[in-house]
Amino acid sequence: KVEITDWKLRLANYDNLLPEDFEVELANIDNSKDPKQFDARAVKYLKDMINAMKKAGNTNIWCQSTYRSVKRQKELYDESINSPDANKTDSLIAKPGYSEHQTGLSVDINSVTELMDEWAEGVWLKDNCYKYGFILRYPKDKERQTGYMFESWHYRYVGVDVATKIKNENLTYEEYYE
Ligand code: DAL
Ligand code: ZN
Repeated sequence: KVEITDWKLRLANYDNLLPEDFEVELANIDNSKDPKQFDARAVKYLKDMINAMKKAGNTNIWCQSTYRSVKRQKELYDESINSPDANKTDSLIAKPGYSEHQTGLSVDINSVTELMDEWAEGVWLKDNCYKYGFILRYPKDKERQTGYMFESWHYRYVGVDVATKIKNENLTYEEYYE
């Protein structure tokens, strides 16, 4: 198997733990008081995509979650295992160290609800994300490949070439990586 060293193709998933000393240079995504952060090398593409969404008439857009520290991921994971949905935790939330959000290359856009799939924002994203180098990371009916339930809100930066291939061939990132 070929070792993939390109920063934008780093695989973090249910059986790929990030190195304990993993670090990434982050940049703020906007000038708000408490800005969310993204990989400094990719933040431009996220901003471009959001601006294009706005131009297309989707005016109410926010990034619900972008970069997360391992500590933050642990909080989310622990919250879930202490909730009534505890038994679903491992199909919804990555264990600390395994989340793609820790790479700074993932973004949850707008509401964390399956309804995003049908809302104009979600439809626009599905059709246009590849132009900005993003993929819908956990597609519908691909739970077996990705290990997670459908997440209509979670997008991942991989660069335009890979995003285009993944879209055209209807692949998950796991299948592409193989
Ligand atoms: N919800 C995704 C799988 C995460 O926790 O990274
Ligand atoms: Zn996410």
